Amino acid sequence: MAQSFPIPRGCPFAPPAEYGSLREEAPLVRTRLPGGDVWLVTRHAEAQQVLTDPRISTNPATPGHPMAAFSERPPSEEERQARAKFQVGQFIDMDPPEHDVYRRMLIPEFTVRRVREMRPGIQEVTDRLIGDLLKQGSTADLVEAFGLALPSLVICRLLGVPYADHDFFQSRTRRMIEANIGAEESMTAFAEIWEYLDGLITQAEREPGDNLVGRLVTARRETGELSHEALVGMTFLLLVAGHETTANMIPLGVLTLLRDPGQLAALRADPEGWPLAVEELLRYHSIVDWIAFDRVATEDMEIGGQAVRAGEGMFVLGASANRDPRVFERPDELDLRRGARNHLAFGYGVHQCLGQNLARAELEIAYRTLFERIPTLRVVGQDDELPFKYDGVIFGMRALPVTW
Ligand code: HEM
Repeated sequence: MAQSFPIPRGCPFAPPAEYGSLREEAPLVRTRLPGGDVWLVTRHAEAQQVLTDPRISTNPATPGHPMAAFSERPPSEEERQARAKFQVGQFIDMDPPEHDVYRRMLIPEFTVRRVREMRPGIQEVTDRLIGDLLKQGSTADLVEAFGLALPSLVICRLLGVPYADHDFFQSRTRRMIEANIGAEESMTAFAEIWEYLDGLITQAEREPGDNLVGRLVTARRETGELSHEALVGMTFLLLVAGHETTANMIPLGVLTLLRDPGQLAALRADPEGWPLAVEELLRYHSIVDWIAFDRVATEDMEIGGQAVRAGEGMFVLGASANRDPRVFERPDELDLRRGARNHLAFGYGVHQCLGQNLARAELEIAYRTLFERIPTLRVVGQDDELPFKYDGVIFGMRALPVTW
């Protein structure tokens, strides 16, 4: 039994220490939340099983969904309605076959080939941001000036946000994910972005451009599938899922590499090693951990020898599965040449990250270019002085002061 949940990380470079003992205790461990008990899935094999079993749902409306257990009382009608507006088109929360209608429309936008075509654009944005950093002096907050800006500008290009609107788009996406601003302020930013995307889709309905939004509008016209609101929701999901994740991985990866000068020097000498390094950084940090892996059984079943009843909720501990010694040798060691692609940092099964090829390209270009163009980059301060986001839903950094 886990005494409490969520369990905070004690060290920025490792999952919570208790994960190790829970993983050895059993593949499924019970924990008590205010609204009821849920299962924590601790091992890699059972995590894969849970994420692929069609009898297990991710839909928050399925009875017993574990997110509801965080609160002692069900949400009021008013709360339900306030949330419902932002739930339209969120296929990350849908089960097949409904989920597949949305995902199918977007798959061509994120293939390896399509992402290869995006690389020059990502490189251009990266070069511009680093050029601005160098122009402005010899110190910066890498979260503010680079980590948050790069994924936001990449999504702008992907969606076809006109250049003149980039500042608006960037400031609102930033505000949406700042953990230290009030809930009301972040809801306002949510609403402003939603409204903006609504306008972008309305404009494309008049005149579809050669970009993701234009192609969605055309596909909708041809197939008759999905509503205008569903398209707004889909693009909103791309933004939410693709921004905070990448924005946190950029500074965390930079810090990790700067703290390991030997492995960084090897990468500088052999830049072909970057794709493997990115893969290992994703496994090592597992920034999404349990938050996206909320599932509920819809039938009685057995997982890892444990009976699970219909209506029982589960959280897959991605960060624990990614350190499972049954699958990864020396799991707690950062080995940038490891080459393990069976990590769960992008999930597994039908909901496996749709934007993973894009995320890999962004991270690889960001790290490689930054270390090439600023070879004297250094962190200002010790690890215990740096502001990590221990309380955020996605692990990351609030700021990363650097100098060169
Ligand atoms: C380092 C960066 C990223 C990480 C660690 C990450 C992680 C994840 C994970 C763990 C899931 C699975 C959720 C589940 O099982 O319910 C997921 C789903 C998803 N991600 Fe990512 N992601 C990243 C970047 C991106 C980017 C750049 C995009 C697009 C612009 C994106 C779009 C999505 C979408 C649309 C889904 C939902 C897929 C579905 O339900 O079918 N992600 N991501």
